[in-house]
Formats: sequence, structure tokens, C-alpha cells
Amino acid sequence: MPLPYPSGWFCLALSREVPAGAVVNRRFMGRDVVLYRTRGGVLRVVDAHCPHLGAHLGAGGVVDGEHLVCPFHRFAFDVEGSCVKVPGGAPPRATLAQFTVRERSKIIYVWHGHDAAPPAWEPSELPDDRFAPAASWSTLLASHPQEVMESFVDYQHQPIVHNVSLHEVTPPVDEGPLLRISFSAAIRLSVRLATITVEQGLVLSGLGLASGEVTLHQVGMTLGVVLMATPVGPWQTHLRVAVVTEAASRADSPRLRKAASMSLSAVAGQALVRTIAHQMGQDARIWNRKRYEPNPQLTPGESAIGQYRRWVRQFYPPDTWPTGTS
Ligand code: FES
Ligand SMILES: [Fe+2]
Repeated sequence: MPLPYPSGWFCLALSREVPAGAVVNRRFMGRDVVLYRTRGGVLRVVDAHCPHLGAHLGAGGVVDGEHLVCPFHRFAFDVEGSCVKVPGGAPPRATLAQFTVRERSKIIYVWHGHDAAPPAWEPSELPDDRFAPAASWSTLLASHPQEVMESFVDYQHQPIVHNVSLHEVTPPVDEGPLLRISFSAAIRLSVRLATITVEQGLVLSGLGLASGEVTLHQVGMTLGVVLMATPVGPWQTHLRVAVVTEAASRADSPRLRKAASMSLSAVAGQALVRTIAHQMGQDARIWNRKRYEPNPQLTPGESAIGQYRRWVRQFYPPDTWPTGTS
């Protein structure tokens, strides 16, 4: 693999995919992990294999109250990962390895740090839990998060691949693990909403997450857009797109207004997700077959890519810095 796994926050699921009592399987960085939520609502992401004799907890494991119970010998683990109950006897001092997990805007992220380093920042600039995905889409790519996120500073491909005119407004601003990108774009939503011109920003939050806001002036609505690239295996990336809105839980507005704005934001959210999914499909044709180019020959108009390549180095251990980022 020409690029190692980067440190950062990576999406494993939307919150609604893991309701109370659920046990859900995912691949993450070449291994199996299990997400579960207790009856009391506590979310955990753990190593898929039981520390007793290695059974797969996502293959028959169940939530019992606040415990996750292994299907093989019914060892029960609490939310700290400790084995607290075994049938007929004292529990051994077995511990189930856990990942650091966050839920933001009803999206579930886990942290990956090199040498088990703790989180160095928080996952998203859309922290408010009143926001929830109104629409989402995902696909599996033969690519790496660094390659996917690079497309947001690659302005030259926009008119060619997407037939979209997108211009850099100011150079990217490096804020440690965040990279602020601002551009103007004319986007045509794939419903009868007219072409909208957005002058906007996108914030890369490590290599797993990009978020921003899109304002639809015609309908006076702002939608949050979250693009998430999760490395599931070597050169395999699960790409998710979600449009989040707050209308769904704006409890203080009159009922009818709430219902109307909910359906409008759902329609707009779905249109925006369709538009982004269409563009990502166009990118995927390139991403799935391209190779990583460690020493790109950039034109003077592509300085944002050079800046991006320097910024990404912080997400890899120094001895594994990808070439071409100096
Ligand atoms: S392997 Fe899980 S309880 Fe034995
Ligand atoms: Fe693109």
C-alpha cells in the first residue's frame, strides 16, 4: 500500500444504523470491529473478537441490558470492556479492546491514533446533536482517504470531470488538523430548484472528514454537508455523504411549520445528496483506477495541491511520511 492508514476520526455508521440493542459489524483498517448500543443508549465500538477464546461478537453476540454477551460461552462485557459475568463462576480478568467513539450530528466516528495516541482534536465542526442526516449515500472505492480528500483542492478537474465551474476564492488555510478551503461554485441541483451559486467553505478535519454548509438562497435554507472517507482495508475506502439539517428536531416551532420545513429540508437534502453522489460517481471512475503519484508535477495554478500534500504529513508517523509531501 503506497500510503499507510492515517490518524484521525473516521465514520463507521450513522446513528440510526445502531439503535439500542443492536450489534453491528464493520471493517475498519483491515480488521473487524463491532458497534453496539446498550438498552440504556450507551454506544461502544469494540474489537470484534472475544478475549476469551476468540469468538466473533458480531456473529451471534447480543446486547443484554448494559452488557455485550459473547455467543460462544456467554461471557458478558460491560461498557468499560471488562468481563463482568460468566455462566456459573467468577469472571476472568478479560478485557475487550475498545475504540474511542463520538457521535456528532447523529453520525458515529471512531478515532485512530498511531501507537494508540489519544484524540488530538474533535471530529466535526457541526457539533450540535439537533442536526441529523436528512439524506445520505455511500459507496466503496478502491482508493485511500488522502486521494479522495485531495479532490477538494484539485480545482482543475472540476470543469473537466464534473462540468462544474468551481473557483478557489482564497488559498487553503492550515489550522493544524483542520484545513479550511473556500471556493465559489455554481451547482445545479437535480430537482427543479434552480442553479444555485454558493460561495462557501469546506473544512477538512483530518483525512476522514470534510464538512461545510450549502445555502439555498431561493428557499432560504442552509444545509450541512458531511463527506466521510473511511479506510476499511488496504486501498479500500468507504465513502459516505450525508446532508444534515436541524429541522427534524426543532421542537419549539409550530407543528405545521415544522412538518413543512422538515419535508422541504428532506427534499432539498435528497436533491443535494443526489447531486454530490453523481459527482462522486464521476470521480470514482478516476479514483478506482488511478495510482498514487508521490511526486506530482504541478502547474503554478495547482499550489493548493502542494499545500495539501504538506498538510497531510501530520497524519502519518514521521518515518512513514508519504514521499512527495516535502
Ligand atoms: S469466546 Fe467469548 S465467551 Fe468464550
Ligand atoms: Fe471531483
